[in-house]
Amino acid sequence: MSDPFANRGNRDASVVNPRPGGTADGSRHSGPTRPGRTGDPFLIGENMRGGYGKADILNGCTLAVEKGQIAVIVGPNGAGKSTAMKAIFGMLNLREGSVRLDGQDISALNPQDRVKAGMGFVPQVANVFPTMTVEENLEMGAYLRGDDFRQTMQQVYELFPAVADKRRQNAGELSGGQRQQVAVGRALMTQPKLLMLDEPTAGVSPIVMDELFDRIIEIARTGISILMVEQNAKQALEIADIGYVLVQGANRYTGTGAQLMADPEVRRTFLGG
Ligand SMILES: Nc1ncnc2c1ncn2[C@@H]1O[C@H](COP(=O)(O)OP(=O)(O)OP(=O)(O)O)[C@@H](O)[C@H]1O
Ligand SMILES: [Mg+2]
Repeated sequence: MSDPFANRGNRDASVVNPRPGGTADGSRHSGPTRPGRTGDPFLIGENMRGGYGKADILNGCTLAVEKGQIAVIVGPNGAGKSTAMKAIFGMLNLREGSVRLDGQDISALNPQDRVKAGMGFVPQVANVFPTMTVEENLEMGAYLRGDDFRQTMQQVYELFPAVADKRRQNAGELSGGQRQQVAVGRALMTQPKLLMLDEPTAGVSPIVMDELFDRIIEIARTGISILMVEQNAKQALEIADIGYVLVQGANRYTGTGAQLMADPEVRRTFLGG
C-alpha cells in the first residue's frame, strides 16, 4: 500500500528522527561502490542536489577536502550547511551529484556503510546519548568495530582529559563544551579517515572554542581530514585550509581561509565586517 503521507513532513533520516517519511534511513541497503575519478580530492561531495521534499535545498553545491586538511563551511542560517553534511553522510538521498571518498564513489552507501568506509559524523543536534555515561557513549561509537577498541578510547581520553575525568558520569550532566568533546570522541572511536563536524563549538565559551579548535588541528595533523560547519566563521576560517561560503544550497565563495578572510565582500556580508 502506498503511504498517503509520503510527500509530507520531515524526510530527514537523522538520529533525532528515527521514522523519516523519506528518502533514506540507516537500515536501507547499500548499493555497490564504484571507482572514484582520477585527480579527485580525498573527499568530494560534487554537484549535490536534493532536499527533504519536493523543493531542493541543495542546489548543486560542491564540497571537498584533502587528506589531513581542514575544510570549513560557513553561511547564513538555513543555507543548507547541515543538509549538505547529511547528504555527504548518506542521510539524504541526492537527486543529482555524487560523493566520493578515498578513491571510491560511495554515493550508494547507507550511513552505516559510510562509517565503515571511513566517515565519522558529529551532527549539529542530539550528538550524545544524555542518559548514558561518557564511557558508554564512546562504546556506542565503537559498536561497528569487531576488534579491541580500548586503545582508541585511551587516545580519546588523552585528547580530551576533561572527558576522561567524567567517564562514569552521564553525558547529559556535562557542560556544553564537554558534551561536544564526548561527541567528537564518539566519532573518533571508529578511527575515521574523515571527521565531519556540524557546529562543534555551538554554545561554548570563546576559551572552550579555542581549545576545541586546537584539538581539531591536532586531529587533522594525524592525517584525518576535517569537514566542519561553523557559525564562529572568523575563528574557524583562521584554521581552515579551505573555506566554503554556502548560500541557498550553492557555493557562493570558495578559497583558502586566508583568502576568504581578506575578501572585503565576504568580510562585509558574512563575517560581520
Ligand atoms: N528535517 C528537515 N525536514 C524538512 N526541512 C528541513 C529539515 N531540515 C532542514 N530543513 C530545511 O532545509 C533548509 C536548510 O536547513 P539546514 O539545517 O541545512 O540549514 P543550515 O545552513 O544548517 O542552518 P543553521 O545555520 O541554522 O544550522 C531550511 O530551510 C530548513 O527549514
Ligand atoms: Mg545547521
